[in-house]
Amino acid sequence: MKRRDFLISTAAVAALSIANIPIVSFANVARDPHDEDFWNFVRSQYDVTSDVTNLEAGYWGIMSIPVTQAYLKHTHFVNQNSSYYVRRNYWNDYGKIIARLAKKLGVGEDELVLTRNASEAMSSLINGYNKLEPGDTVIYADQDYGSMQSEMRYLKQYRGVDVIDIAIPEPASYEAVIDAYRVALDQNPKCKMILLTHVSNRTGIITPVREIAGMCRARGVDVLLDAAHSWGQFEFDLQDLGVDFIGFNMHKWMGVPLGVGLLYIRKNRVFDIDPLRGEAGPENDDVRTRIHTGTVNFASVLTIPDALDFRENIGQKNIENRLRSLRNQWVSQVLDNDKVEILTPEDERMYAAITSFRIKGKNSYEENFALMNLLHDKYGIFTVAISGLAKGGGIRVSPSLYNTREDMDKLAAAINDITA
Ligand SMILES: Cc1ncc(COP(=O)(O)O)c(C=O)c1O
Repeated sequence: MKRRDFLISTAAVAALSIANIPIVSFANVARDPHDEDFWNFVRSQYDVTSDVTNLEAGYWGIMSIPVTQAYLKHTHFVNQNSSYYVRRNYWNDYGKIIARLAKKLGVGEDELVLTRNASEAMSSLINGYNKLEPGDTVIYADQDYGSMQSEMRYLKQYRGVDVIDIAIPEPASYEAVIDAYRVALDQNPKCKMILLTHVSNRTGIITPVREIAGMCRARGVDVLLDAAHSWGQFEFDLQDLGVDFIGFNMHKWMGVPLGVGLLYIRKNRVFDIDPLRGEAGPENDDVRTRIHTGTVNFASVLTIPDALDFRENIGQKNIENRLRSLRNQWVSQVLDNDKVEILTPEDERMYAAITSFRIKGKNSYEENFALMNLLHDKYGIFTVAISGLAKGGGIRVSPSLYNTREDMDKLAAAINDITA
């Protein structure tokens, strides 16, 4: 067989095999989230490599089989109908998708615009936030995402503001995190804007956003919220957060194909974010002018409703509870190990799926990189080493719906073995 024919046929077989897996309706499954059989069924809806135990869903979350099948169908449809579809009907379909997302989030349809990821959404907010004057202060923390930190630091050059970097206390607690921001706000009365991360990519810590945003509002400080990791990992009420500017991801925990994020700007705040360079006159209050993606993967966007259906079939609160219980499964087995530091507090308000740990005294990134490799090479477990915390590095563990309780036991046993 010629190489080209071979490549075509293996790709076609792979695509066909997933396209042909019969869909089992959730309607025929006893939906008892306390029953492990139910979660075995959910797991059977994912086609995941058995080469490794993947506990690194924090990078992005893979699509379930039904969502992959829908994505293949949409890809074929978009490819077949091309510009003829996109120019005439895509924006109508886009509007329906935005309407469904707006309803889910409890916001207006004119307050949302799709992006290609959370970075794009947050970059537009941080760079576009136009209420800063030279001499004002902005604040971010060590647990924020690296590229958002850089965007914040760039405001010194770009807007002439002072940029303050604070450390989230370690070990963290609900009150200690709130206090850290209270102190920072008290010490920086010229602060006009802060960056908050709903779930830290470094530790999985869920930030008490409502309380911190409340303190900020009382001082006339705006919050830009990086919600790259929260939507889909746990349930929250967007209005209750009290934040006017939010960047979301949908390819991490919402199970949407890669290449979809979301930007929220409260309607009466849209003028406080500049339209993208030349995108529109400043009088233009259309949230869509705050993002310019260029051509996107239309099939990814069209798959959003399929991914939402899949999640709603499982039950969104059930997903949150399952993720938290997988996390508890491994943490509970290493909590008494005095050589291990769990960086994510034992407070259910502060974690869902993701939790990080380090072996006491091993704070450097290099040591954690070596530990990540040991977990992989000796135990067949894939995690990721983190850096950037004021106290150093660690290992981030992010299970997903395709993981089993045995996967979590395997990790706990490996950690206890390594530290024995
Ligand atoms: C907290 C946080 N913000 C933003 C991002 C960026 O997401 P994306 O790469 O999908 O734009 C990530 C990605 O890991 C993240 O963890």
